[in-house]
Amino acid sequence: MSGIFYLTTPIYYVNDAPHLGHAYTTILADTMTRYRRLAGDDAYFLTGTDEHGDKVAQSAARAGMSPQAQADRNSAEFRRAWDALGLRYSDYIRTTEERHTKVVQAILGQLWDAGEIYLGKYGGHYCYGCERFYTDKEIVDGKCPDHLTPLTWIEEENYFFRMSTYQSWLIDTIQGRPDLVRPERYRNEVLGFLRDPLLDLSISRPRTRLEWGIPLPFDDKYVTYVWFDALINYLSALGGPGDPRFEKYWPACQHMIAKDILKPHAIYWPCMLAALATAHGKPREAYLYQHLNVHGYWTIEGQKMSKSLGNVFPAVAPAEKYGVDAYRYFVLREMVFGLDADFSEGAMVGRLNADLANDLGNLVARATTLIASYAAEAAAPGPVTADEESVVRAAAEARRGLDEAMGEFAFQRGLAAIWELIGALNRYVDATQPWALAKKPAERPRLDRVLVTLADAVGYLGIVLDPFVPEAAAKIRTAIGGTTPPRLADAVLGRLERLPAVQKLSGLFPRVGDSKSDKEARKAVAAMDTPAGVDGHQRITIDEFSRIQLRVAEVIAAEAVAKSKKLLKLTVSLGSEQRTIVAGIAQHYAPADLVGKKVVVVANLEPATLMGVQSQGMVLAGSTEGDGALAVLTLDRDLPPGARVR
Ligand code: MSP
Repeated sequence: MSGIFYLTTPIYYVNDAPHLGHAYTTILADTMTRYRRLAGDDAYFLTGTDEHGDKVAQSAARAGMSPQAQADRNSAEFRRAWDALGLRYSDYIRTTEERHTKVVQAILGQLWDAGEIYLGKYGGHYCYGCERFYTDKEIVDGKCPDHLTPLTWIEEENYFFRMSTYQSWLIDTIQGRPDLVRPERYRNEVLGFLRDPLLDLSISRPRTRLEWGIPLPFDDKYVTYVWFDALINYLSALGGPGDPRFEKYWPACQHMIAKDILKPHAIYWPCMLAALATAHGKPREAYLYQHLNVHGYWTIEGQKMSKSLGNVFPAVAPAEKYGVDAYRYFVLREMVFGLDADFSEGAMVGRLNADLANDLGNLVARATTLIASYAAEAAAPGPVTADEESVVRAAAEARRGLDEAMGEFAFQRGLAAIWELIGALNRYVDATQPWALAKKPAERPRLDRVLVTLADAVGYLGIVLDPFVPEAAAKIRTAIGGTTPPRLADAVLGRLERLPAVQKLSGLFPRVGDSKSDKEARKAVAAMDTPAGVDGHQRITIDEFSRIQLRVAEVIAAEAVAKSKKLLKLTVSLGSEQRTIVAGIAQHYAPADLVGKKVVVVANLEPATLMGVQSQGMVLAGSTEGDGALAVLTLDRDLPPGARVR
């Protein structure tokens, strides 16, 4: 019987460009829903963007745009990033869509009618960055504990949700359902918050202060507080209570978030859902979600990701350089779900080379090459020996480990379980030495047993790897002749009796840094650097040329680099991401002349710091030696930013 599964990510604020942190949560949700689909479940995956509130309105004002125009642009950018990463969301919700505002207003109306909302007065210390009031206890040196900026005292009449009435119910519920909020450290954190009295929640903002929000249906002098609006996206995407999609998926709802937004999800949201259930004449827990899954934070080379440090890692960049699968594998494997982890390109390349190129890539290459070479004379496989039995046991163990880990959102443990098996399979090849068996005709049945076992094992990997590294898993399945969609139920070793037609699959994950073409490219570059090697006819292969990623980029902003006569700092859009590129063209172009131009950039150039500014690529320009004329390459016809140039 197939189960129903509904998983959401936070909806991301549109005042920011998509970065590695957003990508991580969305990749997790994608992996989990792929896993559940593989297991035969009807799995629905929701993501989207959070578009109202002070923060968004203020950033739009700074950018000289209307909040809606900014939301349209940035929401599309998030969506493009997820598409570029191949993430298979079922729906993409935007809180400025009518389908959302309608449900928010309906729910507000129901809670108002049920007496869950009242008009009251409130004064408090407000942080515009966080869009919330801080209590005296939370304030650090008179400042916001998160932004470390001064708070503003605000006093106003507002509408309040009677959240305080749910405090003891919520404590009892969390205590009675130990895995409602998981991992446990976050459950403890929530119970810790709940030791202090829970106050009623201000759910409105006067329009005199903030226009950008959903008007309250019972008082249009106010708009809805952005968190009250945003949380409801999880319901509105399903059409809200009464809609068949809601009735189908909501009972199976699980949320995925990072620790930064624990409080709204573990406290406001269950209380809102309890009030809504009550308003609908149902028991308080009727609409409560199944699990809140909370992960930690990524740091970048040991530092918090922040705009002021300039180390915000664009969401798609690692995939452009190393491929989607290597990126997915790294983030899924490196972070223990619930704890913080560190991202660095070096660590990612290390894992790519060791786990993907060596362990997995070599196994698949060895197995498929052996089978392809010796299959022609295949006869009936000989008897199963202790070696095969131990491989079958290792595979069953891996499945148990994988299924258990995925049930707990422990992605890292799931992958570790699969890699245990990959290790065992590499040892099996070493121990059985099929190439030696092939030399002895009498060992032919034994050789066939080994080859069948390897084909079986490669097929198994093509299934269980699918949620994690989907592109590689599809290649593996194709190599062993798989044509039907993979099913987890088929990931069982020991049932294959005849050798399938297998194609050799090598280079599944080329090593980074020491592949033949890398070495050749380095040699070519070295030759160009030495005057003796420059003969004007240095040739490169088409492969070497194709390693240079050229893309169309739109110049969004340009400014002079301080203390430099030659350099301009450009902000360019590559469609799915923005980059800073430093170009030595200041003596030929005024910054204003470049804004809006479509140029051609080298997109996979190693970043370099020039006059203290990090440049993530290079703008192509032609120049003459003698009179110093220079022209930036632009397009003859229009193409969208991000288009490939070749
Ligand atoms: N709009 C709210 C969420 C409303 S949900 C009803 C919001 N948006 S956000 O754009 O700030 O996204 C926060 C989320 O982005 C985190 O919960 C997490 O999923 C992801 N991350 C942002 N930075 C991150 C890291 N450095 N590391 C890991 N995840 C991070 O809050």
